[in-house]
Amino acid sequence: MRREGDEGRGSRVNDPARAAALDILTAALARKSGLDEALDAAPLAGLSAQDRGFARALAMTTLRRLGVIDRLLAARLQREPPERVRMLLRLGVAQLFWLDTPAYAAVDSIVALAGADPATRGFKALVNAVLRRLGRDGAPPDDPEALAPPWLYARWRAAFGESEARAVAAVIAEEPATDLTPRNPADAQALAEALEATLLPGGSLRREARGRIEEWPGFAEGRWWVQDAAAAIPARLLDAKPGEVVVDLCAAPGGKALQLAAAGAEVVAVDRSAPRLRRFTENLERTGLSVEAVTATAETWDDKRIFDGVLLDAPCTASGTFRRNPDVLWSLRPSDVAKLASVQSRLLDAAAGRVKPGGRLVYCVCSLEPEEGEGQARAFLKRHPDFATAPVAAGEGGAPAASVTREGWLRLLPHHLPGGLDGFFVARFKREGG
Ligand SMILES: C[S@@+](CC[C@H](N)C(=O)[O-])C[C@H]1O[C@@H](n2cnc3c(N)ncnc32)[C@H](O)[C@@H]1O
Repeated sequence: MRREGDEGRGSRVNDPARAAALDILTAALARKSGLDEALDAAPLAGLSAQDRGFARALAMTTLRRLGVIDRLLAARLQREPPERVRMLLRLGVAQLFWLDTPAYAAVDSIVALAGADPATRGFKALVNAVLRRLGRDGAPPDDPEALAPPWLYARWRAAFGESEARAVAAVIAEEPATDLTPRNPADAQALAEALEATLLPGGSLRREARGRIEEWPGFAEGRWWVQDAAAAIPARLLDAKPGEVVVDLCAAPGGKALQLAAAGAEVVAVDRSAPRLRRFTENLERTGLSVEAVTATAETWDDKRIFDGVLLDAPCTASGTFRRNPDVLWSLRPSDVAKLASVQSRLLDAAAGRVKPGGRLVYCVCSLEPEEGEGQARAFLKRHPDFATAPVAAGEGGAPAASVTREGWLRLLPHHLPGGLDGFFVARFKREGG
């Protein structure tokens, strides 16, 4: 991405776009949800549209290439610089190789930013030398493995094999389009034309154009909501029908519960987080759909009803969401997988107790880790002999054929759809009886 001004004297000390990119990158790597908070934050909103776009592109490109960037820096740094200097260097490398910024502007602008801050001023010469040296070395060859943290890549290779792991990791560098779910499937074609979007198998819409979604056709009338193509599959597989009563036990911010309500079912949406449920209520108002929203912990929710269908979109590592949240790759720790797996198995037991005889349970996680997916499904079937897998067929609900496992579950990998989709695991179970 080339900006006006980069052609002339690139080094402007007063450089709000790059300063904002530095803030976004720092926040994204400092804390969970830091990226989303920084992208929504006031300083970014105060920039011109051009500066905002550049700041975002620079920070996101740096996060998407962080694995490669840190390898390049490791080879050129003799000792670890202060954290803020490392952040500046990372932005500089991203500019050099992936943002179409002229090399001199890529270096000068970051050196100027280092000089503008008393905390980094003493490292101007180092920043200058390292970036110039890397610029002379030239762009590194594409290596998908280098995009992922080594421990995660090793897990993916063990779970899916070398070539699938490489294909998964290659998606990390790609910028995703925006996927939307139409409220009414019959409206999908008209919306696709109005939005200049592609209609995907299963009925999601994919829009390449960027910009403020509030201004896109059909937003104000609630004709669609933003939802990744993979995230839209689990609720379709529950196949809720008008007249049925279904519950979504981990519902906020609500994309899947909206789908269930749009299908005509009576929906109870449970979530333990009141602020997240409030976001859901805003979407409900816009779409005119209605659900019974309950703030409660699923395991202890004091409600005696049993349901035709139960959806459990359990809290998870979210390792499958790296396309929009590349920071997740760098904030996860190996111990998170085991911690979340035990939460998931407790939630699955609670979910089982709420399924009517003959009813369905759909379990899903936006994770690539087998302990949160296949491992949970297998252990669940052992603990609950009154449940059996209700196999998913290729194409059902938009499921890519490549994602269907031998057991009839879905292991959605990010490269299973051209243009990508989030990584998910989905299993559908049926309770005996009814
Ligand atoms: C993966 S998100 C759900 C996304 C949602 N289904 C959607 O489609 O928008 C997981 C949700 O589970 C909620 N949660 C975590 N533990 C829970 C529990 N024990 N009981 C109920 N909700 C819980 C979190 O607050 C979070 O909103």
